[in-house]
Amino acid sequence: MTATLITNIGELTTNVGLDGDPCGTIRDAAVLIEGGRIAWVGSAADAESVSSRSARSTTGGGAAPDNNFPVVERGSLRLAGARSAQVSATETKRVDAGGRAVIPGFVDSHTHLVFGGDRADEFEARMTGTAYAAGGIRRTVDATRAASDDELRRRLAGFVAELRAQGTTTFEIKTGYGLTVADEARLARLAAEVTPEVTFLGAHVVPAEYSDRRDVYVDLVCGEMLQACASSSRWIDVFCERGAFTAAESRRILAAGIAHGLLARVHGNQLGPGDGVQVAVALGAASVDHCTYLDDADVVALAESDTVATLLPGVEFSTRQPYPDARRLIDAGVTVALASDCNPGSSFTSSMPLMVALAVREMGMTPAEAVWAATAGGARALRRNDVGVLAPGKRADLVLLDAPTRVHLAYRPGVPLIRTVWIDGVAV
Ligand code: NIG
Ligand code: FE
Repeated sequence: MTATLITNIGELTTNVGLDGDPCGTIRDAAVLIEGGRIAWVGSAADAESVSSRSARSTTGGGAAPDNNFPVVERGSLRLAGARSAQVSATETKRVDAGGRAVIPGFVDSHTHLVFGGDRADEFEARMTGTAYAAGGIRRTVDATRAASDDELRRRLAGFVAELRAQGTTTFEIKTGYGLTVADEARLARLAAEVTPEVTFLGAHVVPAEYSDRRDVYVDLVCGEMLQACASSSRWIDVFCERGAFTAAESRRILAAGIAHGLLARVHGNQLGPGDGVQVAVALGAASVDHCTYLDDADVVALAESDTVATLLPGVEFSTRQPYPDARRLIDAGVTVALASDCNPGSSFTSSMPLMVALAVREMGMTPAEAVWAATAGGARALRRNDVGVLAPGKRADLVLLDAPTRVHLAYRPGVPLIRTVWIDGVAV
């Protein structure tokens, strides 16, 4: 087993909530990684003193080491109680963070990364006044159907590299640009090659060939298409919006997925007020995403539920819609996540640092709230308790920023501040 001790961290965001600080900030901190997991976090001074105290104990004179503190054994750091056979093989690599900040890796709980084609022309038109319309999805459906597996796989690999370079260590990917049984199944399979968080979104829009037979398409989604996609998917999603699927259709589709063992998430309240939030809450969805147009009843329903409100500010940036009001949600007690929604139509960016900056500048979030929402919030939206938090036993997915504090993510927008990314304890 290999171990890494990151020392001299100026500001460590653990997301282990402490007295009014949901980011669980530790200054002058250290983190010990063993294998793919966090073994210990604490103050840098403690890491050193525990090391030397334990070193004395190996010569017979010191006190027994505290549980959960690293101890030195033949020059190596380990967790007290760790199996010694593994420990004797451990070599500890030391990383000096130079006073910089460390945060958990970003958890991007909403992307659409398997697609063909490009819609830069739509973006350009929107910037001079043309409104965003969900109908553009069908253009990407045509381009995706025409693309080979290898083309889609190559492109996906490029996006995965892009995500990692920007500090994202966990990400979800939706289908939704195939919309035939065979194409949705292949998009789910391709997505499953790069992430366990795959979402079946056969209910993205009704494809052109079913425009006057939408009931037949909903039957297909709930039947053969779901069956073909379920084994590669963890989630089922539906775009519950005027121009996409009604509340009744959405409920039916989500219930079919749940009956197949999938967990629910919803696209809703993106283009105008609608039923998405209420449908999501009623079905116990993990998350309802967009939440741009909410009424008071939606906010109350979210606050009283376990459904996360996932906000996607890249969409408002790229469509010129008004940004969702994160402050209103947080003040009402709603759990908020931030995600990129990376897709070729409404938000062609994979940058979680940009989401943090937009949330702070445009949506009333503090930098601490925005970083929490982009890490621990994303983990909640994916019902994951092994990521988004830096604590013993959690996955060693973390990011060293080229900045002294997490505030710099919003304070220095557009500047590449991701210095080192560890995934599963390995610097990538
Ligand atoms: O999340 N809202 C639906 N789907 C995507 C947009 C997809 C597209 O325009 O291609 C979204 O914004
Ligand atoms: Fe989306």
